[in-house]
Amino acid sequence: MANYRIAVLVGSLRKDSFNHKLAKSIAKLAPPNFSFEHLEIGDLPLYNQDDDKNQAPQVLRLKDEVKKSQGLLFVTPEYNRSIPGVLKNAIDHGSRPYGQSCWAGKPAGVLGVSVGAIGTALAQQHLRNILAYLDVPTLGQPEAFIQAKEGLFTDGGDIGIEESRKFLQGWVEKYTKWIEKHA
Ligand code: FNR
Repeated sequence: MANYRIAVLVGSLRKDSFNHKLAKSIAKLAPPNFSFEHLEIGDLPLYNQDDDKNQAPQVLRLKDEVKKSQGLLFVTPEYNRSIPGVLKNAIDHGSRPYGQSCWAGKPAGVLGVSVGAIGTALAQQHLRNILAYLDVPTLGQPEAFIQAKEGLFTDGGDIGIEESRKFLQGWVEKYTKWIEKHA
């Protein structure tokens, strides 16, 4: 059985981030031949096109981590009806210099959790636009707009609400098949 390494990008730097917890719980629902590497994006400089010929070590590290992965997992909050700047900054860095994007062809899945009922829907839609342009084949269905209800995450890092756990288990099954198909 092939092994798949997934590069995980979380759009929140918050210590107690729900999205970070969601990303961790997804790894626990996945089959054993999938491993999940959480990429650091909080230490990347602000993107500046002048630096394209001399990318910072943090940027080269990000690109290297992505290149050695077979797939991508984006787990993001919604900030003002779009994706957080920290995530867009990371995506922009990885896409440059022109012609040397680390993203092209890497299959991806998109998830998000918010306190609002349809929270992250617009952020995810914006993210899908970006990923389409970057030639990232992204799982279309099921969409996953998770609401951060009381008890969603257990202290042990599992999904504590049965209905949500079942839904996410189904999502992970589709996602892992998507990666196997496109990796
Ligand atoms: C938010 N939040 C938010 N929620 C939402 O559903 N739609 C939105 O447009 C926004 N906008 C927004 C902007 C900014 C600057 C902040 C800080 C927050 C609330 C957001 O969903 C909530 O803070 C989540 O807990 C953020 O995710 P993490 O950090 O818990 O992963």
